[in-house]
Amino acid sequence: MKFSKFGQKFTQPTGISQLMDDLGDALKSDQPVNMLGGGNPARIEAVNELFLQTYQALGNDGSFREDINSTATSSMANYSNPQGDAAFIDALVGFFNRHYDWNLTSENIALTNGSQNAFFYLFNLFGGAFTDEQNESVDKSILLPLTPEYIGYSDVHVEGQHFTAVLPHIDEVTHDGEAGFFKYRVDFEALENLPALKEGRIGAICCSRPTNPTGNVLTDEEMAHLAEIAKRYDVPLIIDNAYGMPFPNIIYSNVTLNWDDNTILCFSLSKIGLPGVRTGIIVAAPEVIAAVSAMNAVVNLSPTRFGASIATPLVENDAIKDLSDNEIKPFYQQQAKTAVTLLKKELADYPLVIHKPEGAIFLWLWFKDLPITTLELYDILKEKGTLIVPSQYFFPGVDISDYKHAHECIRMSIAADEQTLIDGIAVIGEVVRKLYDEAK
Ligand SMILES: Cc1ncc(COP(=O)(O)O)c(C=O)c1O
Repeated sequence: MKFSKFGQKFTQPTGISQLMDDLGDALKSDQPVNMLGGGNPARIEAVNELFLQTYQALGNDGSFREDINSTATSSMANYSNPQGDAAFIDALVGFFNRHYDWNLTSENIALTNGSQNAFFYLFNLFGGAFTDEQNESVDKSILLPLTPEYIGYSDVHVEGQHFTAVLPHIDEVTHDGEAGFFKYRVDFEALENLPALKEGRIGAICCSRPTNPTGNVLTDEEMAHLAEIAKRYDVPLIIDNAYGMPFPNIIYSNVTLNWDDNTILCFSLSKIGLPGVRTGIIVAAPEVIAAVSAMNAVVNLSPTRFGASIATPLVENDAIKDLSDNEIKPFYQQQAKTAVTLLKKELADYPLVIHKPEGAIFLWLWFKDLPITTLELYDILKEKGTLIVPSQYFFPGVDISDYKHAHECIRMSIAADEQTLIDGIAVIGEVVRKLYDEAK
């Protein structure tokens, strides 16, 4: 069968599709696997319990059935309009205005089928072919101000040069008073000197905060600087808040979240523990919301209402925030602590440095001068039943052939149970120690 160019773009094998298959196969395997690879959120008892109660209440309140004696419409038996479930959008407007001074109306919010779906829309709205004021065609890309960045951004574009990306400054820092950590910072000098930015070939700026894969949290100063550059060049600043505040609030550094009408904030219900309901939330200027709604109409008719129905009461009574502050955030903070302690023990006298854990559900490990690439390390660890993700996939828009650092790091998830962390880190320790020892 012959596929169009569009079809070929999505079906060609990529390194990452191979990797995702490996992760999926591992989950199905009957051999024990130390799964430190995927992006699945953890199972947290208190969280599951609350969701279960909410599902059960939904079953009883008419959400699934149209009541012929009532004028109220059931959410599951009807499509919403393409912008998304109106009751959830109203609840979100109230929630954000209660906790932040944003003055939102329902025209500022649209729902998508997961935030991955939102990035497909946004990157194709702001990246690709444009017609400039001279009626000439110009290809614009999305500027990633700090790579490493989220693997899922790669390949969502339908056309055009996908990304222009900037490599980070790497600072040695302490964490909880201990040495052996580093933190990435935006290289603003390199960013401001990018020809694509100066020549009008950037359509939007985008960053995840906290960042998948590194757990970095861009500081308030960095965010203010990015917002200023975005305004100066008249492009939107897209902030991927999948792990950020106020939900799931997996963020440990002391920072604030801002929004204005040049900012596009993307939220998700996935990392509070509901990745299966596929619900993303976009907060943006009405013009962007209207565009997203129009795309929803064509691609999905209307976005799914299941996640919206579960989350509406939790947003109305702030339970989503309490859950995030009191269960989800402390859980991951403890997991990060446990994993750091285990890693430091396993590799005490070896050149491991860890990105300062500031949020998200991962640790980012840098094995300085490792004798092999971390893609090769990935294969050895896989043979031994431990899955991680090698760093090379997290540099969309950068030629990393001569950038050693991009081949020396791994991302490990901290969402697994404690025994899996212990076993997986023991395997990483054994393999990495041997590699360094043999190279002496
Ligand atoms: C940084 C980041 N953004 C977006 C997503 C997409 O999440 P979803 O489509 O489940 O909302 C993920 C998922 O892992 C992520 O890590």
